[in-house]
Amino acid sequence: MTQAMSPLLEACAVSRQFPIRGSGSLLRRPAYQLAVDQVSVALYPGEVVAVVGESGSGKTTLGRMLLGLTAPSAGSIKYRGTDISRLHGDDWRRFRRDVQVVFQDTGGSLNPRHPIGDSIALPLRFNLAMNARAAATEVDRLLAQVGLAPNDFRHRLPHELSGGQRQRVGIARALASRPALIVADEPVSALDVSVRAQILRLMADLRQEQQLAYLFISHDLGVVRALADRVVVMYQGCVVEAGSADAVFNHPAHEYTQRLLAATPVPDPSQPLQALPMDGRT
Ligand SMILES: Nc1ncnc2c1ncn2[C@@H]1O[C@H](COP(=O)(O)OP(=O)(O)OP(=O)(O)O)[C@@H](O)[C@H]1O
Ligand SMILES: [Mg+2]
Repeated sequence: MTQAMSPLLEACAVSRQFPIRGSGSLLRRPAYQLAVDQVSVALYPGEVVAVVGESGSGKTTLGRMLLGLTAPSAGSIKYRGTDISRLHGDDWRRFRRDVQVVFQDTGGSLNPRHPIGDSIALPLRFNLAMNARAAATEVDRLLAQVGLAPNDFRHRLPHELSGGQRQRVGIARALASRPALIVADEPVSALDVSVRAQILRLMADLRQEQQLAYLFISHDLGVVRALADRVVVMYQGCVVEAGSADAVFNHPAHEYTQRLLAATPVPDPSQPLQALPMDGRT
């Protein structure tokens, strides 16, 4: 359905190498490790693409390149058809607004001394140029949208929240910029199982409500199963398999994918998310 549109964000044969620490000397050039090796992936509006693979397979490095946080050693990242290394001024700012990120531990990136309402207001004031009053109204709307009662939560400091609540704040802050795409790098990996299902449910609802696209990075196939439209499987920096979620989960072609699936206790994909209530008690 979405394939007829042009991609929102695209990795075109991107590679990234890192020097191996301690490998170089006065006489010898350092050895390099290819963290990502000629990976191509296109992300379309409203679509959820999961990137899965074991630890060290290059998922985060790929995500950081798509976010413009790490420069590719080769290949290019295109945002709405333009190489992001050529974006300047308003175009660069539009890209940075349009593509947001949620990390595993969003709590760690919230200012510990600022009430969470202020942290969410920052992108509203500076990216969207809202005045204080409009931003305050929008903060409350965003808190409610992620299942946190505004009156109870807007004045709290990050340490006064549970891990699940902090992750909701991270999502609210990402939503504040009205993105088209959220790169979610292991967004539920630090949470326990029941909280994890609630955050996934929230992400699924938000996607429905506002046509959000996600690049959902996870080493856990069980987590992405209910959400993903397409799955990209990475192994040692390369894409070894990519296809519709149905195809990859039900008929994995590559041996590595089969092993990855066998190692994952996968619940019935249609059940857990629908069954759980969405609220802020996490
Ligand atoms: N800044 C860096 N400097 C040197 N090496 C790096 C750097 N970032 C990543 N690497 C290496 O690149 C490889 C891929 O790392 P990456 O973080 O992308 O993997 P990942 O798939 O996200 O793993 P995980 O599931 O553990 O998060 C790893 O071998 C890692 O050690
Ligand atoms: Mg990672």
